[in-house]
Amino acid sequence: MAKDTFYITTPIYYPSDKLHIGHAYTTVAADTMARYKTMQGFDTMFLTGSDEHGQKIERKAAAAGKEPKEYVDEIVATFKALWQRLGIDYDYFIRTTEPRHEKVVQEIFKKIYDKGDIYKGKYEGWYCTPCESFWTERQLAEDKTCPDCGRQVEWVEEESYFFKLSKYADRLLEHIKNNPDFIQPESRRNEMINFIEQGLDDLSVSRTTFDWGIPVTIDDNHVIYVWFDALSNYITAIGYLTDEENFNHYWPADIHLVGKDILRFHTIIWPIILMALDLPLPKKVFGHGWLLTKTGKMSKSKGNVVDPNILIDDFGVDPIRYYLLREVAFGTDGTYSTEALIQRINSDLANDLGNLLNRTISMVEQYFDGVIPEAGQAEDVDDDLKNFASKTIKLVEENMEKLRFTVALEELWNYIRRANKYIDQTTPWILARDEDKKDRLGTVLYNLLESLRIIAGLLKPYLIETPYKIGRQMGVEELIRKTSWDDLKEWGVLPAGTRVNKGEPIFPRIDLEKYFEGVEDKVRDEKIFKEDTSNHTAAEAKKAKAEAKNEEKDLVSFEEFTKLDLRVAEVLEAERIEGSNKLLKLQVDLGEEQRQLVAGIAKHYQADELVGKKIIMVANLEPATIFGVKSNGMILAASNEEGDLTLTTVEKDISNGSKVK
Ligand code: MSP
Repeated sequence: MAKDTFYITTPIYYPSDKLHIGHAYTTVAADTMARYKTMQGFDTMFLTGSDEHGQKIERKAAAAGKEPKEYVDEIVATFKALWQRLGIDYDYFIRTTEPRHEKVVQEIFKKIYDKGDIYKGKYEGWYCTPCESFWTERQLAEDKTCPDCGRQVEWVEEESYFFKLSKYADRLLEHIKNNPDFIQPESRRNEMINFIEQGLDDLSVSRTTFDWGIPVTIDDNHVIYVWFDALSNYITAIGYLTDEENFNHYWPADIHLVGKDILRFHTIIWPIILMALDLPLPKKVFGHGWLLTKTGKMSKSKGNVVDPNILIDDFGVDPIRYYLLREVAFGTDGTYSTEALIQRINSDLANDLGNLLNRTISMVEQYFDGVIPEAGQAEDVDDDLKNFASKTIKLVEENMEKLRFTVALEELWNYIRRANKYIDQTTPWILARDEDKKDRLGTVLYNLLESLRIIAGLLKPYLIETPYKIGRQMGVEELIRKTSWDDLKEWGVLPAGTRVNKGEPIFPRIDLEKYFEGVEDKVRDEKIFKEDTSNHTAAEAKKAKAEAKNEEKDLVSFEEFTKLDLRVAEVLEAERIEGSNKLLKLQVDLGEEQRQLVAGIAKHYQADELVGKKIIMVANLEPATIFGVKSNGMILAASNEEGDLTLTTVEKDISNGSKVK
């Protein structure tokens, strides 16, 4: 009989920076779920990847002096290395720059266009480049900042293709209301319903102001909006329009796991793309909360970004996985703390689990020369332990179905504690004093080892090394490797007569004080913040802090201001850029060099009236490609709310290239 399938995805991450522990949180959760379903016998497909197009990446690459592809290749390699270290056993890693994906996204766009659900129009509005999101005036904060990330938005005006979200709003609402499981958790579902009930505007799904994207085949001035491109990964990766058999095998996805900040994209735009393609919708979109630090959301400027690589170096992979899954209820926000991580290692892993194994194996060595004894007649206390095991398995299952990793692990640890209690109840060291009680002692130790077999098996979805370390000490590593979920439901599987191998404690205790030696209490967590602060000299750290402070107040320090290289430049040539009613291409003389730049002033100046004017420009702005034209600098102009605009010029003549300060 064909196995049931289980298809789970993480978001595909932007390769614009290193991944942090927040990304690890989602990906470890998805990996755990995939391992759990595989163990249950599902034919599992686990997808993750990277979202590589868009203006943000284009700009970052330019700032790093690299071609976008070269830039993303390097960062994607660091993603894959981290996932390997964290034991992320994905089935496929999709990159949105891979040719198959690009081609299919073009076909998807064309299909929807041919159907009449994508049409050409003009876009005017606010755009947040870092978030790659459009906003209406109403949605912006008072100071014209992005409601998601708080950064300044840009006004963009351009010809664009639009996707008829409005046409599908009612159908989507009905689907959400009729399928309570579609958006989880419940509170987020209500949020989405409220949002859609306000009405949906058609969505601009193409851009013309940069090149780093998938071209629209019917109009090569346009590239496809990065979210349209990115969301499609969930179907291109499994063969939509290229391998229909595989696609039909796995689609619809069982779970899209996403952070709460991108839930709207996944529960509005994505289902509507699927409706327009006449494809079934995913069964569940789960919006989890954020992992914050004591100083708020992780951000580079705050220097509070927690690098999972450092944590793995210091504590090992399983403690990190355990902490991520155990500490923060999936769905709500939680705060990362290294102290809490160390406490979990010491109490749950070293004390509860490590001791159970250690005590049990030591007793088998001491009382049975290291050979697993036979189990004899069961007593009530044994049945109790056995029943606790089956109850635990059921509770773990129930909670895993709801993605309640925290509770599932709590239940599993209740069983570990129950097994520790069983030692105290049965007092093997007293039984050992009496030769007549040898059988009873054997039964007790067998039951403890059988509990450990079940515990090791139950741990397999969550931890990647520990189950096998337990198995090795019990002499049954291979058995643990082969253990399926159903095998856990049987009691008495462990073969008596096997030789155990006592090893080192599986979780050495961490001395909290020693770990933080020399680190002030209040900055303890900064010890593991990635290079932004940890490798800084004191002076640099102070500067980073001052910058972070200014960022909060929207102030720039004098030092920051002096980073701008403002110069007087003379316009030598000016011409309109074809296809744009806003942009002019200028050649300017900067004294020692000539530059080409693009300026959005065509509505206010004729090309020839500019020639000979001395203007002020930012000479050290990172280069960009605007409307396919390279721009190496930016000219300054004043503008007001009424839409007037005037160039800043110099009051008296001065040589080209003079510095403005
Ligand atoms: N590229 C898009 C996703 C496209 S999916 C078709 C994107 N990428 S991202 O790299 O910015 O973020 C990816 C995911 O990381 C999001 O789900 C986001 O919620 C999650 N997280 C980012 N910071 C996080 C925390 N601090 N905590 C938990 N999750 C976090 O968005």
